[in-house]
Amino acid sequence: MRILHVCSELYPLLKTGGLADVAGALPLALNRQGADTRVLLPGFPAILAGFHSAAEVVRLQTFAGPARLLFGHTEDGVALYVIDAPQLYERIGNPYHDAQQEAYADNYLRFALLGWVAAQLAGGLDGWWRPEVVHGHDWHAGLMPAYLASQGRPVKSVFTIHNLAYQGLFPSRCFAELDLPASFFSLHGLEYHGQLSFMKAGIFYADRITTVSPSYAREITTPEQGCGLDGLLRDRSSNLFGILNGVDEAVWNPSTDDAIAEHYSAAKQAGKVKCKARLQGQMGLAVTEDKPLFAVVSRLTEQKGLHLILAGLGEITARGGQIVVLGSGDAWMENAFRAAAEADPANIAVKIGYDERFAHQIMAGSDIIMVPSRYEPCGLTQLYGLKYGALPLVRRVGGLADTVVDCSLENLTDGIATGMVFDEFSENGLTQAVRRAFALWSRPKDWKTVRRTGMQQDFGWHAAAEQYLALYRAL
Ligand code: ADP
Ligand code: GLC
Repeated sequence: MRILHVCSELYPLLKTGGLADVAGALPLALNRQGADTRVLLPGFPAILAGFHSAAEVVRLQTFAGPARLLFGHTEDGVALYVIDAPQLYERIGNPYHDAQQEAYADNYLRFALLGWVAAQLAGGLDGWWRPEVVHGHDWHAGLMPAYLASQGRPVKSVFTIHNLAYQGLFPSRCFAELDLPASFFSLHGLEYHGQLSFMKAGIFYADRITTVSPSYAREITTPEQGCGLDGLLRDRSSNLFGILNGVDEAVWNPSTDDAIAEHYSAAKQAGKVKCKARLQGQMGLAVTEDKPLFAVVSRLTEQKGLHLILAGLGEITARGGQIVVLGSGDAWMENAFRAAAEADPANIAVKIGYDERFAHQIMAGSDIIMVPSRYEPCGLTQLYGLKYGALPLVRRVGGLADTVVDCSLENLTDGIATGMVFDEFSENGLTQAVRRAFALWSRPKDWKTVRRTGMQQDFGWHAAAEQYLALYRAL
């Protein structure tokens, strides 16, 4: 089956978050099960630089100016179509905003073109290959199903919500430039409170909608988590499915990872001690096995609930723990973490920035990975933590609720505990979970059992790939 994925980032070429990890891994997982998958991406500099044997498929004149469609492969063998349109995409750095964090004013054109080209490919733009299903990801690809609908739906579409909070909203005047039927700008279409919504377009026009965990699929149909689109999502709930993301074991595996100090596995965990010592030493923390080392690897944004951790730092250090933080994002949070590290450098270490290799070293070197999110569509860092023997300490929400089992007495007794889970989104909620982590730490045998159970969990991509393929076949 021929599948075209449509998205804006792809690991290892360009990544701002988990979407890139998914886009890098899912096509290969689908191909391993017999699919013929290609990915369509905007020609950002990092994408153009990272793909090989680029051949020109066609030159196009579009509503967003001239463009060339290229075809090639990544080093890992992912087949890519790339839209080369320098006037839109030749901007170094973050794909969505400039160095001042200002969203690019022409984003509606930059991402409308992505959806439009996807629909052209569905209509037979490349004489050699035509998709049977087109699968778009997040608001950047939201207009793809709308363009398909405007062409009489030549193929079926799937639209995956990775984060409902980012909706791609633009002033209504932008609509006229996008080459869509005027009738689409309506309540029963892509209009959202007088604005143009890419996310709503994806949800409204796609044949099937998925999101990245079963819990989030339920949560987004409620007013609390629906970000204003819960009514539409309820209307479409018979076509809305939650499919949990996986872990790319070629990238995240402590027994083969070349970024970490020593390899280890669920069966042979000794190497993790060395990884911890290396991490402590590197970050200027007291080098000791005895203190539990908590960690955060995250975008520093409202979603991630990290102000709870800022408030809980005292609890962690007073009980004899250490913490290492890697993140970048909101300036006030970056400053608050920096100040905390300066005040207690033996126990709190902070690195502001984005560093892929260091993220691996933190997973390998830490004992607990903290993800206290306000909401979390899936979350990948808790899955990486499980794989690397860093017990996830998470809030019971979205994909976090679906992947971590709390170390309550009954779960310990049943041998199913993998981490610490708390319910209430508050400082108190987090503190209770931190206390539970220390209680477990004081029982080293139980700690090791929980860690082994976590490391043995199978979150490989094959399960998700099977579910997506079943969905495509049903279409
Ligand atoms: P989200 O996509 O909402 O940011 P996920 O947990 O799905 O959350 O994915 C986050 C991805 O980004 C993971 O691969 C994580 O390791 C990575 N990541 C986040 N912040 C950083 C950082 N500062 N440096 C390196 N990797 C990071
Ligand atoms: C989004 C979500 C995150 C999810 C990722 C990949 O960025 O915030 O929870 O894991 O997409 O699907």
